[in-house]
This record gives sequence, C-alpha cells and structure tokens, in this order.
Amino acid sequence: MKNKTILITGGTTGIGLATAQLLSAEGAKVIVTGRNPETLAAAQRTLPASAVVIKSDAGSLSAAQSLGKEVKKHADRLDGAFLNAGVAQFTPLEAETPQHYDDMFNINVRGPFFQLQSLLPLLGNPSSVVFTSSIAAQIASPGASIYSATKAAIVSFGKTLAVELAPRGIRVNVLSPGPITTPIINRLGLTPEARKDFEELATSKSLVKRFGTSEEVAKLARFLLSDDSSFVIGAEMVIDGGVRLT
Ligand SMILES: NC(=O)c1ccc[n+]([C@@H]2O[C@H](COP(=O)([O-])OP(=O)(O)OC[C@H]3O[C@@H](n4cnc5c(N)ncnc54)[C@H](OP(=O)(O)O)[C@@H]3O)[C@@H](O)[C@H]2O)c1
Repeated sequence: MKNKTILITGGTTGIGLATAQLLSAEGAKVIVTGRNPETLAAAQRTLPASAVVIKSDAGSLSAAQSLGKEVKKHADRLDGAFLNAGVAQFTPLEAETPQHYDDMFNINVRGPFFQLQSLLPLLGNPSSVVFTSSIAAQIASPGASIYSATKAAIVSFGKTLAVELAPRGIRVNVLSPGPITTPIINRLGLTPEARKDFEELATSKSLVKRFGTSEEVAKLARFLLSDDSSFVIGAEMVIDGGVRLT
C-alpha cells in the first residue's frame, strides 16, 4: 500500500473506517468521505494526519458528481476507490413511502454510480474499484425489500462496469458482507425486540456463531484494492461467516 492513494466513501465509521486505518498503517494515503459532521470530526481525530476527510453526501447528485473535483484538491491520481457508503433501514411493505424508496436508492445506488463517473479521470492505469454490496442481495429477510434491491443493483454494476472499465486498466469488484458489528446495526429501524431476534437469527445462521468485525472485512477490502488481487475482476467476494449457506 506504500505510495498508494485510496478513496474510501463512508470511511468515517464501521467497515470504511477500519479499512482506512488498515491501509494507512500499511503506508497508503487515504481520503475518506462521510456526511455526519460528528463522525467526520471523529474520523479526522482517529486517522493519521496524512488522511484527508471530506464531507460529501452520497445521496446528493451534485455532491456525487463533484466528488472527483473535491478529491483532485488533495490528489492528482487515485490507485483505488472503495465505494462503500451506504444506509440500511428495514421497513415492511405497507409502511414504505416513495420518499424512503428514493432516499435509499439515491444513497446506495445513484451515489456510488455517479461518484465513480466523476472519479474516472483520476483513476490510474492500473487501479482498483471496490463496491460494497451485501449478502442481502442474495438472501431474503422481511422488511429488507428496498435495501436488498439497492445492493442487488450494486452487484450488477460490479459486473458490467468491470467489463466496461477493464480496457482502461481499472479493475472493478464487489465485496458483500454478511452481519458485521458496526453502527449501521443501530440504525436498521428495528424495535428492541426485533433487533434481538435479528441478532439471534444472524448469529445462529453463522457457521462460526458470531457477527463479523469491521477489521475482518477491511482485510478483504485491502486485498481487492491492492495489486495482490491483480487477476480478480468482476468478482463478488462474500464475507459472511457462511450465513448465506444455512
Ligand atoms: N454492517 C453490516 O452488517 C453490513 C452488511 C452488509 C453490507 N454492509 C454495507 O457496508 C457498508 C458500510 O456500512 P457499515 O456496516 O460500516 O456501517 P456504518 O458504520 O454505518 O458506515 C456507513 C458509512 O457510510 C457513511 N454514509 C452513510 N450515508 C451516507 C451518505 N448519504 N453520504 C455519505 N456517507 C454516508 C457513514 O457516514 P456518516 O456517519 O457520516 O453517515 C459511514 O461512514 C454499507 O454500504 C452497508 O450497506 C454492512
């Protein structure tokens, strides 16, 4: 990772922050984005002084389209982009609203798509792009229809854009976590009872009987972002403790 510059969207907490910490420790310059002023400030305090922290709302089309311009203020070239920012809220069909549908798709799907478009001039040859999807794209849970659909779209982007961008030396892959202990679990919108049920179910379905950690996912992100994965293109790599198998 020495001398590499890597952008991580949603790099202020959870999986993105753990990846930023791992890559920084291995000598990369990291640029992370987030939306919440408090977590942005906390990430700036946590990460090494060389790290750049940028406020950029993935749900805003104009912010997504100007991300490349913002990044260019800090780096002329990117060796990798981890398009990881995302939200998860579970809502039963009868309680869904068009606004919530749009918000979820804007943050989880439109955001990374137009962020990548705006980053294209900065991405080197070779470089690596990693999208964060979820095993929610493969397995069905009640209330997860919109979230799962957003993450299925990401798996599709991963394949199509891998083919489209390979001639430019840009490798595109998808990382699909299962249940990982991060702040996103507190924001699923579940009642305390439903949350307990969710945690018990996910733990019992895991073949190692636990949630994963952000640090475990960061190691897979590091592999996909580094030259170690130079022959891995258009892949979806699942990291879920086997939950999808049971
Ligand atoms: N944890 C799991 O079990 C799990 C499983 C499968 C997939 N995932 C996926 O993994 C990714 C990372 O999630 P996480 O688990 O690490 O959760 P997290 O700790 O909540 O991290 C989400 C990150 O995305 C950022 N973010 C959210 N909405 C944003 C927006 N509109 N604009 C810019 N940044 C935004 C957050 O920044 P702010 O704090 O500023 O909002 C934060 O840095 C997500 O795409 C999620 O869907 C997670």
